[in-house]
Amino acid sequence: MQVLGIETSCDETGAAVFDTERGLLAQSLHSQVDLHAVYGGVVPEIASRDHIRRLLPLVREVLSNAGIERPDAVAYTAGPGLVGALMVGSGLANGLALAWQVPVISIHHMEGHLLAPMLEDEAPAFPFLALLVSGGHTMLVGVAGIGEYTVLGTTLDDAAGEAFDKTAKLLGLPYPGGPALARLAVAGNPDAIALPRPMLNRPGHDFSFSGLKTAVMLAVRKAEDDGTLEQQRADIAASFQEAVVDTLVGKTIRAAKEQGFQRVVIAGGVGANSRLREQLAERFSGQVFYPRLEFCTDNGAMIAVAGACRLHDAAAPGSIAAMARWRLD
Ligand code: KG4
Ligand code: ZN
Repeated sequence: MQVLGIETSCDETGAAVFDTERGLLAQSLHSQVDLHAVYGGVVPEIASRDHIRRLLPLVREVLSNAGIERPDAVAYTAGPGLVGALMVGSGLANGLALAWQVPVISIHHMEGHLLAPMLEDEAPAFPFLALLVSGGHTMLVGVAGIGEYTVLGTTLDDAAGEAFDKTAKLLGLPYPGGPALARLAVAGNPDAIALPRPMLNRPGHDFSFSGLKTAVMLAVRKAEDDGTLEQQRADIAASFQEAVVDTLVGKTIRAAKEQGFQRVVIAGGVGANSRLREQLAERFSGQVFYPRLEFCTDNGAMIAVAGACRLHDAAAPGSIAAMARWRLD
């Protein structure tokens, strides 16, 4: 069975074809980062318009690269995300499915992220604990099987990626700041500035990053007042990254121990952070799985593979789902 996957929840237009026997046949991505960078963040209206422009050619491209005329089902991200952007993907998915007379599968964006490691040769077996860290979400999810998800913890304020992006902005780095901040951190000393590890020593599995953000802001202001910001930028970046990584790794290991998970999956944009990967691999005694870097951030392949895992939920096209908010469990 071949599933076409469509992702348009935010600022990446993604399409891919996944075959239940042969694996990923084709995938393509168009990033809108340049369009939004001038505004310092994603502008929803611009995102929707660009998805409209890009999606159909991307779908054509992946079908042609996969060597098929039509798939057996169309999976699309139905939420959570920007409603106007989601509507583009769900509208086209339903329209194509109607024309091809094949079923549709609506996918939760975070389920796409947590199943992304299934695209790799070394895929995790169930059950596993997933640390989902993206621009919009920070979650620890117990995964017993497909569709059997328990959200153990979530962020009370900013998402981990959002904290990276906002700190990057303070340091004068361009949007999206996460990868740029990680690059700057390489040259810095992670112990240079004492920053809090929010909620690390509290019971429960929730996260909070706004206090850390404020602490970084004060450190930046102080450096500005001292006239030493330029010399301290890399140290601040490294110290911030270390605080986030320490918190994420510490809380993940504790949740895994408490809930008895031997396997951990890291996914979502911040999952591309090499310090996070390195630290979890070093400190967690069980196995750690990640999608390859390009499948950490938003993409169509994760939606196609999630659709392939959820063929039992395939339904007749027609009802165009687009949900800004949608619980995973
Ligand atoms: O999963 P994603 O592509 O989109 C959402 O669903 O939100 O995640 C994007 C987020 C952004 O905040 C970006 O700055 C962050 O992931 N990110 C990183 C890195 N690469 C992307 N954060 C830290 N280190 C990275 N290497
Ligand atoms: Zn995402």
